[in-house]
Amino acid sequence: MAIRRQVLKGALGLSLAAALGSAAFAQDAAKVGLILPMTGPFASTGKQIDAAVKLFLAQNGAVFGGKKIEIILKDDTGNADTTRRLAQELVVNDKVAVLAGFGLTPLALAAAQVATQAKVPEVVMAAATATITEASPYIVRTSFTLPQASEPMADWALKNNIKKVFTVVTDYGPGIDAETSFANKFKAGGGTVESVRVPLRNPDFAPFLQRASEAKPDALFVFVPSGIGAQFMKQFVERGLDKAGVKLIGPGDVVDDDILESIGDVAIGAITTHHYSVAHDSAANKAFVTAFKAANGGMRPNFMAVAGYDGMRVIAEALKKTNGNTDGDALVAAMKGLSLESPRGPILIDPDTRDIVQNIYVRKTEKKDGELFNVEFAIIPMVKDPVKAAKKQ
Ligand code: DHB
Repeated sequence: MAIRRQVLKGALGLSLAAALGSAAFAQDAAKVGLILPMTGPFASTGKQIDAAVKLFLAQNGAVFGGKKIEIILKDDTGNADTTRRLAQELVVNDKVAVLAGFGLTPLALAAAQVATQAKVPEVVMAAATATITEASPYIVRTSFTLPQASEPMADWALKNNIKKVFTVVTDYGPGIDAETSFANKFKAGGGTVESVRVPLRNPDFAPFLQRASEAKPDALFVFVPSGIGAQFMKQFVERGLDKAGVKLIGPGDVVDDDILESIGDVAIGAITTHHYSVAHDSAANKAFVTAFKAANGGMRPNFMAVAGYDGMRVIAEALKKTNGNTDGDALVAAMKGLSLESPRGPILIDPDTRDIVQNIYVRKTEKKDGELFNVEFAIIPMVKDPVKAAKKQ
């Protein structure tokens, strides 16, 4: 008996030590499950955000509110079923305090239920359909919304003698948001709009651009997701739309800084409205661009990178505010109302909607010192997502 008790005591003692050990470890770390498309057609989004997250932690030391942020990076390849499974595994097995990333709208939506059930914040660093933040009270967004970027484009077009616009958008959430928000505003101001939608997977823009060419619009409004712009612009030139004098307008995704050089001079003169340009003229942005390029073999940060960088900052600031408490409700409460100076300019996490409020800049694509840039020439300050703002009224 005595021996048995001794053995039992030993075993208990061991398992208790193991349990305490892991509890102590869990107290020191705040794990962030970073789910991104690292392969497949949207890998550029994953590459940009991953690099920005690494840069933020390298610059800021990774410990906030006494907790060391530990990143667990997972590749969902752009497949929503994979995103959902990875989110579940990260929550159940790895016990992450925060889920982050989400390169496309269907991927952000796929994780929403997991975030709600587990009460874990979901920081959306890329996906930009307006309604995403309504899919879970645990979603906080640091990217942008397409209506936020597209409505100012309608205002600019109306003021600049553009009367007839043909819209070409990718046929899913953000494209539909871009098309409807632009068209509603533009038509309300007296313009006319004709619209086509192009599939998300393996898009062939040629037939749609043929229709656009026949319609003889003053401007072509385009939304394609980040990374696809070069493919689009190639077919824009092949259809002769540049020579026909059709002005290219839209949210800035099509002239993404990451691929602007590969698009080439055909992009010169495009007018776009967006929240970030690598050419944004501020000390914070110059420091960000210099550090990002130095850490990534000269790669330019694009609007995805800045949202990943700010997303990490939002997580870090929330941990500081909660003194390292990783309870999901406490973290989301700490994120609400956060206001920061980002490389893109001032940003605010709207305490009511958990969506980002930020400047939208009107830019023209230009060549400067042999390099292509989206040069900002007007600012619409602190724009809220107009879809949610309209619902509130
Ligand atoms: C989305 C993806 C993008 O690459 C982009 O530029 C804008 C929006 C999205 O799927 O929400």
